[in-house]
Amino acid sequence: MAFTLQPLEAKDVPTCVAIYFASFQNAHSLACWPRNNAAVREWWENMILTELDEPGSQWLKAVDTGTGVESEKGQVVGFCKWRFFRIGEEVGTELPSWPEGSDEQLCERTFGAWAERHPVLMGSRRRGHWYLEILATDPKYQGRGAGSQMMRFGLEQADKHGMEAYLEASPDAVRLYERFGFREAGRTDTWIENERVRPGVWYRNLFMIRPVMGGGS
Ligand SMILES: CC(C)(COP(=O)(O)OP(=O)(O)OC[C@H]1O[C@@H](n2cnc3c(N)ncnc32)[C@H](O)[C@@H]1OP(=O)(O)O)[C@@H](O)C(=O)NCCC(=O)NCCS
Repeated sequence: MAFTLQPLEAKDVPTCVAIYFASFQNAHSLACWPRNNAAVREWWENMILTELDEPGSQWLKAVDTGTGVESEKGQVVGFCKWRFFRIGEEVGTELPSWPEGSDEQLCERTFGAWAERHPVLMGSRRRGHWYLEILATDPKYQGRGAGSQMMRFGLEQADKHGMEAYLEASPDAVRLYERFGFREAGRTDTWIENERVRPGVWYRNLFMIRPVMGGGS
């Protein structure tokens, strides 16, 4: 199956939010975001719409262009956000306010801790880097190479510029990231328990860095 990467457009945003909620089935995501909540869905849509033109950000969709099934041609099957930090640019740690219906305390605690770690691990280097902020593939299309294609997009840029790459990894994606050269640079273990996740479970998030691999240009 062939996928094509294209710039994400405003009209794609509701589909991307649906893909996000369908694909992120780990305990942390389920605990943070109720799935059938209009305010939460709207918050996600607005967040993506607002950030589409953020300087340094590249939002991409993976589109199914090669399937034999005519009705599925042109279907958005996944999306990602790569963010480029130029040399000397500060990595911000500010958080948004969370939507009603989300687990605001858990969002604040976990996304806050992750945001704080990013400049500690990368910002002080001030060498610039590529940051994979979001990556999701529709479960119906997983395991067919769309995620790898979206990975390669940012990593090719990083290689071209002779820069590192950085990401926060959910447990399900660690193997994929390792295959692309990312290595663990830190971790957090968080006890997750609320009305959507019971009994509670430990959730492990990894911080991963891919060293400079390209020669730069
Ligand atoms: C992580 C994620 C984005 C990967 O997307 P994907 O489109 O399935 O990625 P790929 O198809 O490129 O690779 C996934 C696996 O399929 C395999 N694969 C890739 N192309 C394949 C093909 N043509 N045929 C069969 N298998 C293939 C890969 O080897 C990979 O195996 P691995 O699990 O051993 O690494 C997807 O699983 C997802 O959305 N997960 C939930 C959200 C999430 O955790 N996102 C990451 C946030 S940190």
